[in-house]
Amino acid sequence: MQLPMIIVHGGAGKWKDEKIPIGMEYVDKAAEVGHAILMKGGSALDAAEACTMFMESCGKLNCGKGAVRNEDDVLELDAMIIDGNNLDFGSVAAVKDVQNPISLARYIMEETKYKFFAGQSAKKIYDEMIESGYRKEVKSGALESSIAPDSDTVGCIAIDTKGNIAATSSTGGIKKKKAGRIGDSPVMGSGAYATDQCAASATGWGEHIMRVVLSRMVVQYVETGEDPMKAAHRGMKMFEEKTGSEAGIIVADNKGNFGYASNAKAMPLTVIQGMSAKKMSTSCQK
Ligand code: GLY
Repeated sequence: MQLPMIIVHGGAGKWKDEKIPIGMEYVDKAAEVGHAILMKGGSALDAAEACTMFMESCGKLNCGKGAVRNEDDVLELDAMIIDGNNLDFGSVAAVKDVQNPISLARYIMEETKYKFFAGQSAKKIYDEMIESGYRKEVKSGALESSIAPDSDTVGCIAIDTKGNIAATSSTGGIKKKKAGRIGDSPVMGSGAYATDQCAASATGWGEHIMRVVLSRMVVQYVETGEDPMKAAHRGMKMFEEKTGSEAGIIVADNKGNFGYASNAKAMPLTVIQGMSAKKMSTSCQK
């Protein structure tokens, strides 16, 4: 039995050789955080949120506390969480002074009648979330980046023992981006997508990922009969042919079959499957 399972990536990109083991270490730890929740009977959403929170809080990946800064030297973060069962999602974009935008995205999905908030308005919803006790504030004030990542967006797909699927993406976007620029990560279908059958989460140059609606395309390949690994490779081939750009993708179905592909230099990735916690890690280096 391959359930429960979690597949996690730490971002596709031009990783410096010496940073690849660091990326792999933190992706591995994030996968363990999520899988431990699943093993205790926790939901796919709880596991996906906790796994992504870990990556946002670790300071080593391009999301949350460790994210790259924009041209004004400010962290502007984007994130999305998707509940595949209900085809529901919550997104935040260009939000500042929030260490775990993934929790804010979940709050938006579960506790508001809206799906997507940006900028100052998203921060107001965050303050409301803390006030309501939905999540505790992990850290307030200016966020410190402990290493400058050369990588892109992180993300995961979790499938619980009941076969429910949740997917996430979280990012600081592109280094030195113009203030207010928003990439693919919080855009449903581009940065990630999930149904009750299958989910995908993408990483790479957002302007190009949005052009081909990458995550939705890869899920559609699986929905129409493709094996997840073949679907991931087909998605990357289509992406490269149409845009000439670099990206990566993870995909998993509700039985715990998974796939991944990247045309970037590296994409740290860990998969943990089943009650025996069978683990596979790779840097997906070219
Ligand atoms: N994939 C992240 C971004 O382009 O913002």
